[in-house]
Amino acid sequence: MQAYNPSFARIYNQRWTGFAQRVAPQIWTFYESTPAAEHRSLLDLCCGTGQLALAFLERDYHVVGIDLSEHMLLYARENAGSYLATGQARFIHADASDFGLDERFGLVVSTFDALNHLPSADALRNCFRCVYPVLLPGGFYVFDLNTRAGLRARWNGVQVENTEEILLVTRGIYDEESEKAWTGITGFLRTESGLYERFEQVAYNIGFDLAWVRSALLETGWRSVYFARMEDLGMPIAEPERENRVFIVAYK
Ligand SMILES: C[S@@+](CC[C@H](N)C(=O)[O-])C[C@H]1O[C@@H](n2cnc3c(N)ncnc32)[C@H](O)[C@@H]1O
Repeated sequence: MQAYNPSFARIYNQRWTGFAQRVAPQIWTFYESTPAAEHRSLLDLCCGTGQLALAFLERDYHVVGIDLSEHMLLYARENAGSYLATGQARFIHADASDFGLDERFGLVVSTFDALNHLPSADALRNCFRCVYPVLLPGGFYVFDLNTRAGLRARWNGVQVENTEEILLVTRGIYDEESEKAWTGITGFLRTESGLYERFEQVAYNIGFDLAWVRSALLETGWRSVYFARMEDLGMPIAEPERENRVFIVAYK
């Protein structure tokens, strides 16, 4: 289980929101070009601090967010505060591999390596089995994965960022045997008082076999599954294992 801890959730909410903000318009541009878009309802699975959810809320979608970290959800609820009050948004503490909802959605997403955080292929398959029934017929599950090539290329080594605001040390190692990339993020962030708060998070990303991912989705019941790049989610790509990160578009 990889629920982010309180101090890391605070840093995440400040520094790692760019991906969700960049990918949100790509996802709605794709989704709104399909007939499923008559349903303006989104399940943001592994929603983190809620920036992607917020972008869809501002576009009048009804949004439910799920995350395993209560600390991430605190920020999601704060960021989407006014939408919680009206009932347009709801955030739930649950495991992506073991949840059920009565509501149905036209679109489900899991972004920014979230599913690489699941502990095993079985957990990923269970996630697909949880998502399938909450998706309306004709709906889409869109998620990204770091590929094994991407983890090997980008998750090895040490990076240091050293500014007045933050000292951030990221140590990564990709273990070929387990196909697991471990990341240790340690640092100090300046607080409003001028003092520095220490934070630390260890997380791993599993590199899943993409052919297996596609088969597992089709076996779960999706009608079509293809791989794409963020810049054009409507355009299937032929060699996903050569990418550093791919998007999976699954159509029910
Ligand atoms: C890299 S963050 C991505 C957050 C968000 N989707 C984004 O685009 O910024 C991964 C998130 O997955 C959550 N997570 C990890 N394992 C999970 C699980 N089994 N079920 C639900 N959430 C999980 C973490 O708590 C974290 O918020």
